[in-house]
Amino acid sequence: MSTNLFSSSFIPDLQKREGFVRWQSPSNIALIKYWGKFGVQLPKNPSLSFGLSEAYSQTSIKYSSKEADKANHKFYFEGKENPVFGKKALRFLDDLDIVFPFLKQLDLNIESKNSFPHSAGIASSASSMSALALCLCSIEQEVIGSLQDEFDFYMKASYVARLGSGSASRSVYSGFCVWGEIFELIESSNNYAVPFTYEVHPLFMQLRDSILIVSDSEKAVSSRAGHALMDGHPYAVARIAQSKQNMTWLIAALLQGDTDRFIEVVENEAMSLHALMMSSKPWYSLLHPNTLRILNTVRAFREKSELFICFTLDAGPNVHLLYTQEDEIKVLQFIEDELLEFCVERKVIHDKIGFGPKRID
Ligand code: DP6
Repeated sequence: MSTNLFSSSFIPDLQKREGFVRWQSPSNIALIKYWGKFGVQLPKNPSLSFGLSEAYSQTSIKYSSKEADKANHKFYFEGKENPVFGKKALRFLDDLDIVFPFLKQLDLNIESKNSFPHSAGIASSASSMSALALCLCSIEQEVIGSLQDEFDFYMKASYVARLGSGSASRSVYSGFCVWGEIFELIESSNNYAVPFTYEVHPLFMQLRDSILIVSDSEKAVSSRAGHALMDGHPYAVARIAQSKQNMTWLIAALLQGDTDRFIEVVENEAMSLHALMMSSKPWYSLLHPNTLRILNTVRAFREKSELFICFTLDAGPNVHLLYTQEDEIKVLQFIEDELLEFCVERKVIHDKIGFGPKRID
């Protein structure tokens, strides 16, 4: 018999036989991008992100002692049994035997929904997998009585979320968050994300993120497939070194309130991510002609207005426009006048740095 925070071969007696948990957990946007993995969902390079406020998933689980020999796990997305999401979530649960041995003894009814439309082109795996992981940790607390310590609770939630989707590991904390080992944070780990504990300059604590929806259709190449193309990629070694150097520069910028350095690093990360896709074998690109039009327009506006405004990109064509609260009125006008014409049906989602996940049952 062995037991630690992340794995146990011990099938416990249940202290509670039925209950209900619900968590709301946000999506996050990476400034230093995780791209490429090894082993079981471990990152080839460290990443740093902040959690959003308006883009989140709400997941609830009703659990009870199993009625048949085999536990019955059901998954509903936005009120309906969803074969695509359902299969992914249920397969994920099947792989968690060692992490949550009690799952074999419980029937689960999982319901999940997102605050943003599925077609908005916002990656939902970070919010949905982190919400699911938080629910499972709450169930562990209730049925086994462990994870009472808040620090352990979130560490395990991040570990489990990572197994579902790498970027989800960073959604369990509020504010800025790091996943992957870096020398600047001794507590950082490849196994789970940790909160960025240094004091960030107040300017960056009120970041706005307007997500310009250039396309809302399904991506041609999934992130999972994109990560796999980093195995044997000719620039893989250089990419790992670049991400670490960018991490060092970004941390300094965050602490000092250095907006020029922030812009330089954040845009370099976004463009490097897409350059890696274009230089993969086989190559691919998720950029849309309108993505490039937006990027050029943002740069010209920044030069003219001298405002603190920059962009980042996910693995997709949509543009995350970053700026601060104090420039909000001017930037919203700029978006309206010069950027919405490049968006599908003039769609934009205005978001901002958030307060992290919360239990809401
Ligand atoms: C470009 O976390 O979606 O958004 O681990 O395979 O689920 P899986 O990949 P995922 O990859 C996200 C990649 C990224 C950068 C980032 O969020 O760090």
